[in-house]
Amino acid sequence: MKVFILCIILCALFVPVLSYVGADVVSVSVMEGDSVCLCTGLIKSQQDRIKWYFGDIRIAQITRDLSKICTDVQCNEGTERFRDRLKLDHQTGSLTIMNMNLTDSGVYKLQINSHNNEIMFNVTVRAVSAAELDKMKKTGESVSLDPGVVKNPDNVKMWYFNDILIAEITGDQSKICTDDQCKERFRDRLKLDHQTGSLTIMNTRITDSGDYKLQISSSIFSITKSFSVTITGSGRSSGPIAGVQCMLLLFSFLWLQLLV
Ligand SMILES: *[C@@H]1O[C@H](CO)[C@@H](O)[C@H](O)[C@H]1NC(C)=O
Ligand SMILES: *[C@@H]1O[C@H](CO)[C@@H](O)[C@H](O)[C@H]1NC(C)=O
Repeated sequence: MKVFILCIILCALFVPVLSYVGADVVSVSVMEGDSVCLCTGLIKSQQDRIKWYFGDIRIAQITRDLSKICTDVQCNEGTERFRDRLKLDHQTGSLTIMNMNLTDSGVYKLQINSHNNEIMFNVTVRAVSAAELDKMKKTGESVSLDPGVVKNPDNVKMWYFNDILIAEITGDQSKICTDDQCKERFRDRLKLDHQTGSLTIMNTRITDSGDYKLQISSSIFSITKSFSVTITGSGRSSGPIAGVQCMLLLFSFLWLQLLV
């Protein structure tokens, strides 16, 4: 939730509307499961009318005080496709599409007031394997979370653990654990790759299990990626247990053989 709100704030802060003029199509590359916020660059005034299209289908609009994820006939197809996955920010008109699906690839068109004021977002959704997003490790091992496609150095990248900011890359600067809560938990165990934005948690503990989110923001869009990390007990203790289970299985097998 916090991450979603941040997306809206970033959209609102960084974008002068006029910077769009000249950029016909904004390319956005995301992976399956990501959420993406497409910014309008507006602080909407009372008079602004905003419409969002996916291809030719209108999917959301704000007119005066009425904002809606489309419900009229023209929108039905869009509503079906994006069921419960769209959020429209009333202040800015920015559109968030959650949990992107491969079939969401395409051109999203933003129309402000009239046909003259249009911005196109060409969104490409790429497939991702579950193994990239759901990490299982044993205590003491390292786990690396890799953002994948986005490598633009101008983007701000922020890593969150259960909604606490733990690492940040802005331009040439990177910061790890700036607050006490983070330091206490991860002291010296986080590594950030400045080039790729990937985060490594070293010498993991069971308490490192949870949701990690990466938010990548440009001035025109922001992408939120979710990773799930599960750290299980150490490898050593599972050995004897597995051994005992194996013996029990063998005994029951032999016992069954005797019965037959
Ligand atoms: C993607 O959308 C298609 C069609 O709406 C649906 O059948 C499929 O289950 C979706 N995939 C995921 C991963 O949600
Ligand atoms: C959108 O991007 C894809 C892949 O990069 C490209 O093939 C396609 O032509 C682009 N479409 C538009 C309208 O720019």
